[in-house]
Parts: sequence; structure tokens; C-alpha cells
Amino acid sequence: MQKIVVLSGAGISAESGISTFRDNNGLWENHKIEEVATPEAWEMNRELVIKFYNLRRKQLLEVDPNPAHMALVKLEEKFDVQIITQNIDNLHERAGSSNILHLHGELNKVRSTLDPGLVYTMKDWELKIGDTCEKGSQLRPHIVWFGEEVPNISIAADMVKKADCLIVVGTSLNVYPAAGLIHEVRQNIPIFLIDPGNVDSGFLKEVKIIQANAGEGLTRLVNELLENNKK
Ligand code: APR
Repeated sequence: MQKIVVLSGAGISAESGISTFRDNNGLWENHKIEEVATPEAWEMNRELVIKFYNLRRKQLLEVDPNPAHMALVKLEEKFDVQIITQNIDNLHERAGSSNILHLHGELNKVRSTLDPGLVYTMKDWELKIGDTCEKGSQLRPHIVWFGEEVPNISIAADMVKKADCLIVVGTSLNVYPAAGLIHEVRQNIPIFLIDPGNVDSGFLKEVKIIQANAGEGLTRLVNELLENNKK
């Protein structure tokens, strides 16, 4: 079975109603990265950091996967599909995709500030100051903040190296090391990039650009790939 690796970013969840980061009115227009998404922010103002992620978590309860997430589930009918997502939402999971690797953490999880191996799935949206792990230390969002290591990056690189086809969807390719994953592909495999904007893909050889929203673009591409796989 051919292996298709999908690198997804905030744009795939945009049609579900979740803001992207760098578009007009994106999250980073309304919040300063250094105040909510860095280890320094956590040290300076935990309340603000916790509130920021609480709001994201609460919002996640109010939205659903969209046709783009569903198209990737359908792709599994004929392909071995591995999703590598920069997103912290759980919409790929809720759509029903089987293989999902989160690069930047997961919104519905928290972890110990003492022992990073102690990760807990939240039952509700609200994390509070004073919520502790079993060893008694404050819980923090299970998010990879700017300036932190990306623990899953080498696993992701290995996945991309084995891909027979790469689909990049809804990411501005601004943030490293995630953006660098596309350089790990083997030569001459098909690469598709779906985005309504103008992503700088000049460094990607032979990329087929589908300038469309994720829902429309992925639905079309998935149908084509499934159709061509019949022959
Ligand atoms: N369908 C597909 N793509 C879309 C849509 C849509 N409906 N709407 C917007 N986009 C595209 C934008 O054109 C842009 O190229 O999604 C991309 C979103 O880019 P960013 O906001 O930079 O998000 P992303 O690339 O996922 O950011 C990477 O940065 O802030 C950090 O940790 C955060 O994981 C995030 C990382």
C-alpha cells in the first residue's frame, strides 16, 4: 500500500471556525507570542498563559471537523495515511483519522511541570492555577512553546522520508523545524500543496500547487488519488 504523508497546519481547521495564526485577524495579531506561548511567559504570567489556552480549549468544544479532515479519513480507503500536524486541536482525531502525530502538542492534554512524562487528558476545558499532578506540581498546557524542543520532529522526519506522496495543507511554512520536514522527501515523489494564499514553496521542487481552501482542495485531490489508484 502506498504511503501518503500529510503535513497539516492551522488552515485545515479554519473552515471549522478556528483562527489561523498569521492570516488577517489571526491569533498572533491579537496576542503577543512572547506573552502567551513561551516558557518565559509561563514564568512571568501563568494566569495569562492558562487563560489563553483555556479559551482555545473551550472554543474547541464548540467546533467540529470539516470536509478537509473528512477527506483525509476517506483517503485511508486505499492508502496508508500518516498525518503530521502542527495543530493542537483534535479535529483529525474526531474526524476519524487513524495515524496522527502532533508536533506542537495537544490542547486537550496537560502535563506536570516537574515530570514531563506525566501527561493527562483533560475532561473539561478549564485548567486552573493550583491544579497539580500526582507529585504535587502545577500542571501546564501540553504545548510546545516557542523556544522549546519539538520532541516528535525526528519521528516526523522518518515518516516523511518513507512517503510515496506528500500533501502539505493549510500551513504558511513559517515555523521551523516543522517547515523543514518537506526537505526530507525522497526525490521525485509527488508533492501537493493546498492553500488559498501564496505560500512560498519555491524551495520545493515539482510541487503541484492547488490554490484553494482545504475543504475544496483536499476533497478534489483525495477523489483524484483514489480514482487513479483504481487503474
Ligand atoms: N484552507 C487552507 N488553508 C488556509 C485556509 C483554508 N480555509 N485559510 C487560511 N489558510 C492558510 C493560510 O493561507 C496560511 O498559509 O493556512 C496557513 C496558516 O498559516 P499560519 O497561520 O502560519 O499557521 P501554521 O502554518 O499552522 O503555523 C505554524 O506556528 O504559531 C505557531 O505553533 C503554531 O503550529 C503553529 C505554527
